[in-house]
Formats: sequence, C-alpha cells, structure tokens
Amino acid sequence: MNPATHADQLRQEFNRWAEAGRGEGMEREHLPITLPVLELMCLAPDDHVLDAGCGNGWLCRLIASRLPRGRVAGMDISDEMVRRAAQANASMTNVRFFTGTIEAIPQPDRVFTKVISVESAYYWADPGRGLREVNRVLAPGGSAWILINYYRDNPHCHQWGPLLAVPTHLLSSQEWTSLLRQAGFRDVTPQRIPDPSPVPDVYTGRWFRDAAQLREFKREGALLLTGTKP
Ligand SMILES: C[S@@+](CC[C@H](N)C(=O)[O-])C[C@H]1O[C@@H](n2cnc3c(N)ncnc32)[C@H](O)[C@@H]1O
Repeated sequence: MNPATHADQLRQEFNRWAEAGRGEGMEREHLPITLPVLELMCLAPDDHVLDAGCGNGWLCRLIASRLPRGRVAGMDISDEMVRRAAQANASMTNVRFFTGTIEAIPQPDRVFTKVISVESAYYWADPGRGLREVNRVLAPGGSAWILINYYRDNPHCHQWGPLLAVPTHLLSSQEWTSLLRQAGFRDVTPQRIPDPSPVPDVYTGRWFRDAAQLREFKREGALLLTGTKP
C-alpha cells in the first residue's frame, strides 16, 4: 500500500477510536501489562521519555508523575487522540503531545533517554523503518521498550488481524528481535509479560472465542522487546 494512503487510513481509524471513547478502554486493558514494564525500565528522575503511539495519553501521565525532574512526550498519528491527550493532561507541566508518524518522528536526533510504545508497533506501515527512527531519536545509552499483544508466537491473538479495519503485521518474537538489531539496537531481549488481570466467567466480546481463550491469551502474555542504543 502507498505509505501516504496507509498513514491516512491509520489516522482516520484511530480518530474514530478516539471519538468512540476507546482510549479509556485501552488504558484499562493495557495497564496490567504496562505496570511491570515501568518497573523494568527503572526510570531515572531526569529521564526524557517518548511514548510512541500514545493514544489518549494515560501512560504519559503515569510516567510523568514518576519523573520529578524529567519530561515526557507523547506522539500519535491520530490528531484526535493527540487533541484529547493534550486536553486531559493540560495541568501537567512536564508532558507535551504532538501528532506524528513513527516512520518520520518529527524530533531531532538523540533527544530522548527512553522510548516506550504500547500496543502500537504492529500497526506501523514499516516496522523496520519505525524502529530505525526510534533509534535515531534516542541518546547513546538510551533504550527502547516495545510492548505488543499481537504477535505470531501467541496463537490466541491471530484472529484479531481480520477483525481490524487497518493492515497489521503478525511477526514472531524472532522477527521483531532481528528488526531491532537491524535498526542499530544492542542487547536486544524479547520477554513475555503475562497479564494477571481477572477473566470473567463468560466472555461476550468479539476478540476471543470464549473466556477460556482469553485466559490462555493472558497466560501467554504480551511480548516486550527491549534494546539499547550503543
Ligand atoms: C491500540 S492503540 C494504543 C494506544 C496507547 N498506546 C494505549 O496503550 O492506550 C495504537 C495507537 O498507535 C497509534 N499508531 C498506529 N500507527 C502509528 C504510527 N505509524 N505512528 C504513530 N502512531 C501510530 C494509533 O493512532 C493508536 O493511538
């Protein structure tokens, strides 16, 4: 697909998600897998963090509250997500938001100490290019934290692809690891982050066959990919 068409499709679809109030639902769903990642990140008080694909900005707010002398920037391709994120976090002095795509992050080289991205990377039109951009905006010694729930090694999410209105990449842990290495990262490590949140006895949504599959999906866990910029 033409990159401009793809970007436009993503922007429109996630603008619809924002208008439907799905940003808040994602906060509830992604918090249990994101909290362990924040612990692993060992945030420094003066870190400068980018949240790539920040949605409604809930994670930026959480990270900013842990950075007494640091700053957070949230970027999203959806201008409606960014508008809502900026509005909801207007009172925070160490958070800013901007519209942008991961394949051309509108920021100078080497400005961030950490980049986190939650449940976004499999939507990127060109994940390899996106990871090279993440590497470019990181300072030497900085680290990337890419968390995804949709990846080949977890068979309980494969049904999502056809249900989503935009193209996605169903890559394996090994393929993601190679992409991070090719993008210039060192010490690339894939790990699983199981979701400890409770599963209802009866599942009525459209993303899983039944409660048993949802339970298996959470037990397999999300895939966290980390890497350091030399
Ligand atoms: C499933 S949502 C997750 C949002 C947020 N990280 C959260 O956990 O609530 C995926 C987000 O990634 C954004 N996104 C997708 N592709 C993108 C790209 N190429 N560049 C920037 N943002 C992108 C979407 O607009 C959307 O807000």
